[in-house]
Amino acid sequence: MKKLGITLIILVALGSLGFAKGGQQGGGSSSTQAALIGIAMPETHVQRWQKDGANLKAAVEKLGYRAEVAYGDADQNRQNQQIQNFLTNGAKLLIVGNINDGVNSAIADAAQDNVTVIAYDRLIMNSGDYDYYITFNNYKVGQFQGQGLETGLNLKEASADAPKYITLFAGSPTDNNAKFFFDGAMSVLNPYIKSGALKVIGPYPETSADNANFQRIATENWQAPIAKTRMENLLNNDAANVVLDGILAPNDTLARAIIEACLADAKYADGKLPVVTGQDAEADSVLSIKNGQQYMTVFKDTAKLAEAAVSLADQIIKGQTPSIPGATLASGDLVSIGDTGKKQVKAYLLEPVIITQSNWQVPLDAGHFTAEESARLK
Ligand code: BGC
Repeated sequence: MKKLGITLIILVALGSLGFAKGGQQGGGSSSTQAALIGIAMPETHVQRWQKDGANLKAAVEKLGYRAEVAYGDADQNRQNQQIQNFLTNGAKLLIVGNINDGVNSAIADAAQDNVTVIAYDRLIMNSGDYDYYITFNNYKVGQFQGQGLETGLNLKEASADAPKYITLFAGSPTDNNAKFFFDGAMSVLNPYIKSGALKVIGPYPETSADNANFQRIATENWQAPIAKTRMENLLNNDAANVVLDGILAPNDTLARAIIEACLADAKYADGKLPVVTGQDAEADSVLSIKNGQQYMTVFKDTAKLAEAAVSLADQIIKGQTPSIPGATLASGDLVSIGDTGKKQVKAYLLEPVIITQSNWQVPLDAGHFTAEESARLK
């Protein structure tokens, strides 16, 4: 009897150990394995996603779960296959940064299997099959870009008699974030355009709702060569007889491609670059800002986003009501950030930080860069 009692105590103790590890009670076929979290990232050609994938994996494993990471290479069919593999492998939860709406069939399959999906950074549009979204305040990212142009071009002092000239670029038309960035930026720029102090060279969608013009300035899958070619065409055509003062560029990858095109034009060589915006605080762009080429970027601390996303995942798996340190549940005007068109999902928001030459060290101090990148920046 005594022996049985001791055995029972040991068994109970072992069981609660597994429970304490969080991941061990569910998921795959074997109860001895920690639950699996599948991490589907959209692409690697924009550097941030490689950091996101690595940060998410580390955060997942730190909490005692298993992690699998896959990169979709900007190909939604490929990402759907990767998501199917996660489901086959018995994933309990998926963290998905999608490429386009084509992901919806895979998200529906996950729901069918009772697998929770968290949309990561990008809202999965037109789906009613998931409940959670975690991202930065993307409208504010755009406002920072607009403010970068406002300050960099000293728009408050400009007038219709001596206007400033800009041209507009947007991100991928299939990425819902691209619309938020653009609309945030235009909320700052439109009043100056209306007063005549700012003139737009090339297409001018007042907001992303002007879909025809938005498509003309958008950059399919955020591909740098597309932005570079469009900039070259602008320089040779619409902008041939004017000196551009500024360029709204939606992220760093595209900003550098646009700057490359400008530098090949005699008008903009030798320190005469327009004010170019960006986003992501990529090492090459922060270096460019430090050296006075790119004007600004927006730092989104993606290590914090990954940590917050995994904390959300952990709380959902444990059946708790999520409370995420460093992230706020969108409310009021911001609720629409979680509107997929089919469902209102819970959107958790982190805060971005504007970076110019005066505070370029902020992402460095936050540990945003690899050792090699930090060495290049110092
Ligand atoms: C992200 C940006 C990124 C862009 C291209 C957007 O959804 O929010 O940080 O630069 O995708 O990958």
